[in-house]
Amino acid sequence: MSDAEPRGASLTVGTRRELTIERLVAGGDALARDADGRVVFVDAALPGETVEVEFVEMKRDFARARLVQMISASRERVEPPCRHVADGCGGCDWQHLAANAQHDQKVAVVREAFARTARMPDAPIVRGGAVAHDASRTTVRMAVTSQGRLGFRRAASHDVVETEQCLVMHPLLQSLVSTVGVRGEGEVTLRCSVATGERAVWSHDKARVLGLPDDVAAGAAAVVHEDVAGARLRVSMASFFQASPQAAELLVDAVARAAGDALDGRDGVVVDAYGGVGLFAATVVPIGVQCVLVESSESACSDAYENLRGRSATVMHTRFEHWRAVRAGLVIADPARSGLGKAGVTTLLDTAAPTVVLVSCDAVAAARDARLLVDAGYDLVNAEVLDLFPHTHHVEVVSHFVRGA
Ligand SMILES: C[S@@+](CC[C@H](N)C(=O)[O-])C[C@H]1O[C@@H](n2cnc3c(N)ncnc32)[C@H](O)[C@@H]1O
Repeated sequence: MSDAEPRGASLTVGTRRELTIERLVAGGDALARDADGRVVFVDAALPGETVEVEFVEMKRDFARARLVQMISASRERVEPPCRHVADGCGGCDWQHLAANAQHDQKVAVVREAFARTARMPDAPIVRGGAVAHDASRTTVRMAVTSQGRLGFRRAASHDVVETEQCLVMHPLLQSLVSTVGVRGEGEVTLRCSVATGERAVWSHDKARVLGLPDDVAAGAAAVVHEDVAGARLRVSMASFFQASPQAAELLVDAVARAAGDALDGRDGVVVDAYGGVGLFAATVVPIGVQCVLVESSESACSDAYENLRGRSATVMHTRFEHWRAVRAGLVIADPARSGLGKAGVTTLLDTAAPTVVLVSCDAVAAARDARLLVDAGYDLVNAEVLDLFPHTHHVEVVSHFVRGA
């Protein structure tokens, strides 16, 4: 609180205050408290920093504020390594945090989510693997600037900032972004394969990509092939794939370690729920073990069908909540950001699987699902936090559950 303002004075939009940041929270913002103890979310601040902020949004239980002046900076604060942050690019929201400190902060965010949302303050949260900080992303979704160039959106805005030299993008995509132009508005997905060098683009809306080099395939049905943990995977542009093969390898490794002996098929089939193109079914499930992949995207299912040829696998094209569950020895579930929710957990329980490996890309969803599973009789063995999205607040959590006695 600044000396000029009496403690407890009513705060309104535009009021300035001095605050000390407690911690980072899921979603990437920093959390502080005003003189009355009310939570204030501040963007671009770090734990331990004292900052002057201006309130921009007032709610009954919390407020939002923007950082206007740094009073005492964290030792982990750095100059953002990517020059487009200064242009306003909102693609990477943690560039001001030292790269080697980002992973620990993600572990802390997940620990806090399990403590608050799952009411599991002692949950065994451990630090897992991390991809290279720079130049690793092989799938990106970009928007179009008013000048017909590709870029990323400004934070909390629809404006698009041209990103001529993106820090996290694989060089094969970088050279594409610098070459092409785009006519019309919308978003474009770009994907490349590290294994084969293939590249492809897919315009989601009315945007038309111009000047594509001859090697680049286009459209929702265009494919690239990527190698992960010894498996070659076909990935259509309309199918989900992890941000990079490095990220996929780390996930496969974490899932395989969590699943352990449950992969041998002795207790029943392995279910790869929300299975995408078959990343886990094609890598962690041993050949000869019965596997059922459940996936709602038609494109991903046809890729999975190709990727799982020669294996004892069945591809079920349906929403997991609508799938008629079979008895399983292991369920690997990798839902979208919102998590399994009650409906997904209900289906999972119908499998009676003694072991569950849950992959979550949101800390709060991970904690919410953990609480549902624990209430249903599972024990959490541990939750491993991976850093697959450097320079951003995004987390990946692999949680291992076993059914209690
Ligand atoms: C985070 S991705 C994981 C895919 C895969 N496990 C991988 O790592 O590549 C989630 C997948 O779930 C699919 N999906 C989304 N909602 C679904 C639902 N309700 N039922 C089944 N699949 C769903 C998406 O199409 C996507 O392929």
